Amino acid sequence: MTLQLKPLHPLFVAEASGIDLTQPLAEHDLKQINAAMNQYAVLVWKGQPLTAQQQLDFASTFGPLDIGLKRVFKRKERLEDERLIDISNVDAQGQVAQRDSPKNLSNFANQLWHSDSSFMNPRAAYSMLHAVVLPSWGGCTEFADLRAAFDALPEQTQAEIQNLYAEHFALHTRLLLGDDAYTDDQKKAIPPAVWPLSDTHPGSGRKVLFVGVHARQIVGWPTAEGRMFLLDLLEHATQKPFVYSHEWQVGDLVIWDNRSTLHRGRRYDISERRELRRVTINDTSEARLMAA
Ligand code: OGA
Ligand code: MN
Repeated sequence: MTLQLKPLHPLFVAEASGIDLTQPLAEHDLKQINAAMNQYAVLVWKGQPLTAQQQLDFASTFGPLDIGLKRVFKRKERLEDERLIDISNVDAQGQVAQRDSPKNLSNFANQLWHSDSSFMNPRAAYSMLHAVVLPSWGGCTEFADLRAAFDALPEQTQAEIQNLYAEHFALHTRLLLGDDAYTDDQKKAIPPAVWPLSDTHPGSGRKVLFVGVHARQIVGWPTAEGRMFLLDLLEHATQKPFVYSHEWQVGDLVIWDNRSTLHRGRRYDISERRELRRVTINDTSEARLMAA
């Protein structure tokens, strides 16, 4: 089969079709998808009747899967397989989660611009979200193109960030949202990870402005000065021209590259159900992410 691509934004994002995601992926298809990811960074597949197992199988073709923060939180989960990340406002018993529940705290953290698991090393390569139940309004997911963001930086700033590194910390977003009830053991369970601010995407060779809300300081800089610069860079990276907003329909599968994009969820009525399933691929040497 041949992958078909229809651009959905002037800079990145394409609607993809022509490959059956419920079946084992041929080597040729895997490479075509990687090539498309290198070019578009976000692929939208409409009307995918994927079961959870099929989504896991499809994702596993690309490499080892990430379990994100489950290692720290160890909460009771609704979905059995720990590699399946329950992006929903539904609690372990299947009820809409309490307004002030930990589940909703995670959802609000997802509404800040981020790259999944940038606080870990290895970090996340692709993530894929599958829409199962959607609320009556809101709840879009937005994506920002960090390659375009880098290209649009003034030359002086490009030069300035050339050798700068940012420290990304798992609980930074939680602390920002007023949640500081973590034990020292939890805080230590995921030590911060350090990534270059001016990165090169391995698949495309393009330069990337690797920021996001997990970044809490610039290595070697005073905290306040570093945070302000990080906020400035994040504001630059998420300007409207670099952003695509995805309005979900049930059955959509969206795949994005966390090394070249940021994303955030948008507000919706949290008393209505919103259920998506995420699987994330770790950026390790075992991952099969190259186009050829
Ligand atoms: C995610 C995420 C945002 C959303 O699944 O990684 O950040 O719109 N989701 O649910
Ligand atoms: Mn995310």
